Amino acid sequence: MTVAPLPLPQFAQARQARTFTRPPRAPDAVHAAGRMLDSHGRTIRDLRLSLTDRCNFRCTYCMEPDVRFAAPESLLQAEDFVRLARVAARLGVTKIRLTGGEPTLHPALGEIIAGIRVHTGCEIALTTNGSMLDRASLRAWRVAGLDRVTISLDTLRPDRFAHITRSTCSPQRVLAAIEDCLAEGLGPVKVNAVLVRGVNDDEAADLAALARRPGVEMRFIEWMPLDSGRTWDPDRWVSAAETCAMIERRFPLVSLPTADPSSTARTFAFADGTPGSVGFIAPVSSPFCGACSRLRVTADGMVRPCLFSVQEWDIRPALRSGHDADVAAFLIDATHTKQPGHGITQPGFEPPPRTMSAIGG
Ligand code: 5AD
Ligand code: SF4
Repeated sequence: MTVAPLPLPQFAQARQARTFTRPPRAPDAVHAAGRMLDSHGRTIRDLRLSLTDRCNFRCTYCMEPDVRFAAPESLLQAEDFVRLARVAARLGVTKIRLTGGEPTLHPALGEIIAGIRVHTGCEIALTTNGSMLDRASLRAWRVAGLDRVTISLDTLRPDRFAHITRSTCSPQRVLAAIEDCLAEGLGPVKVNAVLVRGVNDDEAADLAALARRPGVEMRFIEWMPLDSGRTWDPDRWVSAAETCAMIERRFPLVSLPTADPSSTARTFAFADGTPGSVGFIAPVSSPFCGACSRLRVTADGMVRPCLFSVQEWDIRPALRSGHDADVAAFLIDATHTKQPGHGITQPGFEPPPRTMSAIGG
């Protein structure tokens, strides 16, 4: 994999969040299409609902130990998430990802999955840190309608795991959760890792080895400037190309054709024919914004057209109005404001005021 050298930015302090009650109205022709179309020709197919901004981990590349969470009264209710999914599905969304924070902390997760399944034919996926999964809950969620699980795992070493996550959980527990997902038919399981230089970058090949079997795809995500402590540092950032080269020293890889053009990952198989695959998600070194089909709603009801939006739209009044048509119009309008790309490597880039754990991955 080759990528152009990067002019990585040193950016200024982030602006304060600018929230507006309503996005400007999209052109009538866009409303008439009954789809979430943006002004750059992209259509939303993938809705990411952050069920909570809370997490039982404090991963060093994501959150500070004393991060403040949203006030409980500002959070959406379980029925709001179901309604958003239902309305979005009518507007053409085919995939719903439940994320966080840590979505398994949400007491009504099963209810939300069941509600989405009853009202939509969407694929339902869950992104979790895997620390609180057990066979019984996984089975209940699968029966309720969950299709697939993505689990984060950044290291296989217990001491590093404790250091990175600032938790008492262990890599063994997360590995057991991956097995449980496979056993419950919730595969293929995608396993996400973020490498940070000097922290876990020497584990690229060890982590890739987890995927040398059917049903597991190991994915390396480039660290993005979305952490609450603003510790993102170009010197500690590891590119997908470098990660790929480190893996190939042990496991030569062959590129797989991309099935889904809006997919964020470039995937590779093992050249020796061992089943399994490795993916690279390179939002910083090779942005995939041109094919983006994603829209995010935060746990406190802010519609974010982009992970890096500095502008977000408060959908709570439309949800409270009681009319699905208002919610649909709001989603169409918000989508129309989607920016062409995140511009991380552009001069003057500002990280969004909201951090990854408060947006949803
Ligand atoms: N950059 C890249 N990935 C991140 N994640 C959390 N914070 C960041 C960041 N700043 C990852 C998590 C999870 C996925 C949803 O996003 O590790 O696997
Ligand atoms: Fe929690 Fe995921 Fe952030 Fe870690 S990366 S603190 S598991 S939200």
